[in-house]
Amino acid sequence: MTKGFLFIAVLSVLMITSCDNPASIELKNPSFIEGEEITNRIDIALIYRYKCSICHGEKGISIIDGAPNLISTQLSVEEKIAVILNGRGTMPPQKDVLDMPTIRGLAVFIDSFK
Ligand code: HEC
Repeated sequence: MTKGFLFIAVLSVLMITSCDNPASIELKNPSFIEGEEITNRIDIALIYRYKCSICHGEKGISIIDGAPNLISTQLSVEEKIAVILNGRGTMPPQKDVLDMPTIRGLAVFIDSFK
């Protein structure tokens, strides 16, 4: 009983402190991203350009060997979020770099290439 409570307490502290990541890119209007809706597309598009287009291309047509064309990805939003969070192969993980609304925003943004 106490162990379970302690676990949840530690988890909550971790979750709260992990939001305070100085390396994450600050969005001008993070509150404008709600669920799967992106209203601050310009911020997300900029982040995509800086952090993703060097491999995946500006419009999702890859420019390096091994990086899939995001224009034709078959992954769901949740699956894309998992890849962006944890990385895969030579793709660098973003979980310590970008915050969750941004990562979700990117996953939804990729669908707009189709
Ligand atoms: C250093 C190059 C590189 C960068 C930068 C990069 N990726 Fe990737 N990405 C890859 C490679 C390579 C794969 C395939 C990994 C594998 O399957 O081995 C991949 C896979 C993916 C996939 C899975 C696609 C599929 O259909 O399986 C998604 C989604 C994705 N990247 C999104 C992003 C986003 C969003 C960013 C920016 C935050 C990003 N990537 C930055 C190289 C990169």
